[in-house]
Amino acid sequence: MVEAFSLRDFEELARARMDPAQFAYYAAGNADEVTLRENEAAFARRRLRPRVLVDVSALDTSTTLLGQAVAYPFGIAPTGQQGFAHEEGECATARAAGAAGIMFCASTSSTRTLEEIAESCRGPAWFQLYTQDNTGPRTEALVKRAVGAGYQAIVLTVDLAMSGRRDREWRAGFDPSMFRPGNFPEPHADDVPLRFTWRDLAWLRSVAGLPIVLKGIMTAEDAKLAVEHGADAVWVSNHGGRQLDRSLASIDALGEVVDAVAGRAEVYMDGGVRRGGDVITALALGARAVFIGRPVLYALASGGEAGVTRAIHLLADEVRYVMALLGTPRPWDITRTHVV
Ligand SMILES: Cc1cc2nc3c(=O)[nH]c(=O)nc-3n(C[C@H](O)[C@H](O)[C@H](O)COP(=O)(O)O)c2cc1C
Repeated sequence: MVEAFSLRDFEELARARMDPAQFAYYAAGNADEVTLRENEAAFARRRLRPRVLVDVSALDTSTTLLGQAVAYPFGIAPTGQQGFAHEEGECATARAAGAAGIMFCASTSSTRTLEEIAESCRGPAWFQLYTQDNTGPRTEALVKRAVGAGYQAIVLTVDLAMSGRRDREWRAGFDPSMFRPGNFPEPHADDVPLRFTWRDLAWLRSVAGLPIVLKGIMTAEDAKLAVEHGADAVWVSNHGGRQLDRSLASIDALGEVVDAVAGRAEVYMDGGVRRGGDVITALALGARAVFIGRPVLYALASGGEAGVTRAIHLLADEVRYVMALLGTPRPWDITRTHVV
């Protein structure tokens, strides 16, 4: 039994079990960690407007993401280096997600290969792409592997023009040589400057032949460009506060993105989602689904696959509870009127 009764409980369990430097790698945000804190604080400032005397006896949390059925409007965000948390790493997380019928997003910087992870998942799964050499052969090979392994969409992360500096990691003595590049067994030079821009999205679409999700959109301007360049979905994210400190909390950026997209693509968000009420708040502000980052890593460290399963069940129960008390038996009943 994993001694956690809400998502936040997993953090201390993980801290007690993990190497301190590797724990710092998970926990850290960029610079002063303003955005890291703000992601959660901004949810806490929102208030819900419950409607009563609604028949919620047939409550149903299921929805679709890019046409794929999922059991809940929350999924697992791509996070690298899950091997720091547990020896089975991403495979354990993917099994838990697959069994629960929620979306699992596999990271390029996983410690297991994308093929092993897809095999473990047996459920809806997307592949998160960090371009390797822009539109060069290494990126192309990675995308083709993801397609071959059966992933159903490519999630291109766009907020990593340069890797974020995280003081907390430095102080804890985190050493990048600890990284385990599961997807790249062959060593390669990592010195290709990132030149991937809007005009390269057409190339990615043609190589992948799959829906494209842009992860890391934080403004109406970029949301508009994303739709104009054919993105199938826009994922509001500040990388869990790990990239540009003092960027807006994700939940505060969501509204302008939803307005700019104007129904032309699906919109997701991540960053600071810890409670069922947070999931519902994001849905009320126009997200179709939300994704969970750190709590899943901490749950994996706390109890492997069983820990992640517990985390999913805890959040799932909270989502059902909030939907019942809000008087919204289906995800699409949740509207802008349910939150202030
Ligand atoms: C340790 C760690 C590793 C991450 N690795 C990736 C990654 O490989 N690719 C990516 O797109 N996002 C990555 N992210 C960002 C997450 O996908 C997500 O945006 C963020 O964790 C959500 O915020 P939360 O941790 O508050 O839930 C990582 C986040 C953490 C904490």
